[in-house]
Amino acid sequence: MATHLLGRSVFGDSKNAGNIMPLEEAHKLLNDWVPNERLRLHMKQVAAVMKAWALEKEKVDEQTALKWELAGLLHDADWEKYPDDHCRIIIEELEQRNIDPEIIQCIASHGPGYFGVDPVSKMDKMIYAIDELSGFIHAAALIRPTRYEGLEVKSVLKRLKAPSFAAQVNRDDISDALSRIEFSLEELIQFIIEHQRGIS
Ligand SMILES: [Fe+2]
Repeated sequence: MATHLLGRSVFGDSKNAGNIMPLEEAHKLLNDWVPNERLRLHMKQVAAVMKAWALEKEKVDEQTALKWELAGLLHDADWEKYPDDHCRIIIEELEQRNIDPEIIQCIASHGPGYFGVDPVSKMDKMIYAIDELSGFIHAAALIRPTRYEGLEVKSVLKRLKAPSFAAQVNRDDISDALSRIEFSLEELIQFIIEHQRGIS
């Protein structure tokens, strides 16, 4: 992916804290902006993993978990229609809609190497760690006759070491993201397999 530096580090307005977009509205935005079914599925998978991680690992309340879910659901919403302005367009859209700044900040920090925004909160760091791995694991599942059934962590690890497999997935981003959190690659892969396998 090309770099699209956002050139700023503050997103949204603190007076909008707690202003959470209803899930139906987020899904409508996705349907309007993202004709590509596979890309929509990617965002739904990242959303499901983010929500589950927030509830199970970070033990946050439902309302906070909804923020994690929304950030996952919308993080690539502008990618298909605005490839040259990826990230900036969805951020400006959410700012116009007066959405909670934590959600916007999280989306802005999902690719520090591309958008120039460093992940700060746990939610920021986890979307960065989950995003690339989620796509990679889905690619690894798709080439198996039984898809997610029987997909093991060790086979994902093996494929990560093979540069030709899903070559567009940047292994350095995955290592960098992992270095910012206190969970192992194995634990994260296991969690992602479990929580995105049923998403369609
Ligand atoms: Fe993504």
